[in-house]
Amino acid sequence: MKVLVIGGGAREHALCRSLSLDPAVSALYCAPGNAGIADVATLRPVDALDGAAVATLATEIAADLVVVGPEAPLVAGVADAVRAAGIPVFGPSAEAAQLEGSKAFAKDVMAAAGVPTARSYVCTTPEEVDEALDAFGAPYVVKDDGLAAGKGVVVTDDLAVARAHALACDRVVIEEYLDGPEVSLFAITDGVTVVPLQPAQDFKRALDGDEGPNTGGMGAYSPLPWADPKLVDEVMELVLQPTVDELRRRGTPFSGLLYAGLAITGRGTRVIEFNARFGDPETQVVLARLRTPLAGVLLNAANGTLDTLPPLVWREDAAVTVVIASHNYPETPRTGDPIEGLLEVAAEDEPDAYVLHAGTRREGNTVVSAGGRVLSVTATGSDLAQARAKAYKAVARIRLDGSQHRTDIAAKAAQGH
Ligand code: AMP
Ligand code: GLY
Repeated sequence: MKVLVIGGGAREHALCRSLSLDPAVSALYCAPGNAGIADVATLRPVDALDGAAVATLATEIAADLVVVGPEAPLVAGVADAVRAAGIPVFGPSAEAAQLEGSKAFAKDVMAAAGVPTARSYVCTTPEEVDEALDAFGAPYVVKDDGLAAGKGVVVTDDLAVARAHALACDRVVIEEYLDGPEVSLFAITDGVTVVPLQPAQDFKRALDGDEGPNTGGMGAYSPLPWADPKLVDEVMELVLQPTVDELRRRGTPFSGLLYAGLAITGRGTRVIEFNARFGDPETQVVLARLRTPLAGVLLNAANGTLDTLPPLVWREDAAVTVVIASHNYPETPRTGDPIEGLLEVAAEDEPDAYVLHAGTRREGNTVVSAGGRVLSVTATGSDLAQARAKAYKAVARIRLDGSQHRTDIAAKAAQGH
């Protein structure tokens, strides 16, 4: 099977790594990819947002499956263009990707499907904003309605800050604050059948102890020893299946990866957000634990035959990933700095610890930083404590001037809470 992956972050590196280990995959391409993905896939340049260009590339390489990684191409209709060219694609249509592309749309689907989520108002005027902020009180949760690469959400006790963010957006969702640990649960679906993956936890804030600004995600781990073993079944029944059923009922079936961002509150599990694609960095730890070869799973979803897929098989191992970000991330990340130590990790730590590239590119013989999140150092071990130790040992081998990473990824969970 020839597979083309669209995107060029650590999530796509994790996808390509798993696909490259799948004996059913005879050729693997990634467009545009990055310096690390080049080790496991053939890179092709493409404008990932240009559906016609992606469809042409897929046709040219005779792809049997196209996997669209990031949200922006999905919202731009890239999966539709590839599907229209007659090539199976893993990823939802532009209409179904509105589940991520518009927070107001997601709220509407959840209301129709009876999915538990924070109470919310959609506001377009300063008067509506003030009323909504007043109705919920602090802490205030203000979300830009559109895609904002993880930076559209402000959670604050400061009314002036909440108000300023709301007024800077055209349309905002203002909602009730959800208190409790967060869980990311992914499910693969063909629009009818839903297959949940293993839950993971992401670390959204830039600094240790969940301080600092929100980021795209600074690390992740799986499994969650502290979570209720019934969590996946409960979320399947209350969230994932009803959402997939509702989108099908609307005539916009969702096929691809449905990502439920959840808060485990004292009053039950609530959806914080949906995404229409694999999460980053959670994918790095979830795929590290998946034993079932990935290509067949994604192809079954693309072809609408997930009901024929045998149950997924998981490793007993735990996985931890630590993101190395560039100087000044997330505000104004500095790029172009050389990265050293990559070969040392490959020589000393593989296969238990490995480096997945996010924002990197090759300059002659060196790999340099090319984005805010630069690397996602991933390790597996017999339990979280061991996976964590291996991940941080590999992190210590990497040298990138001015870089930052959190030192507390999976620390509490490794102690069982
Ligand atoms: P989102 O972009 O929707 O994932 O939001 C980013 C982060 O903001 C989430 O991971 C949460 O940590 C936080 N957040 C979003 N909505 C809420 C909420 N209703 N209550 C508390 N925290 C929230
Ligand atoms: N880890 C958060 C996201 O992928 O949106």
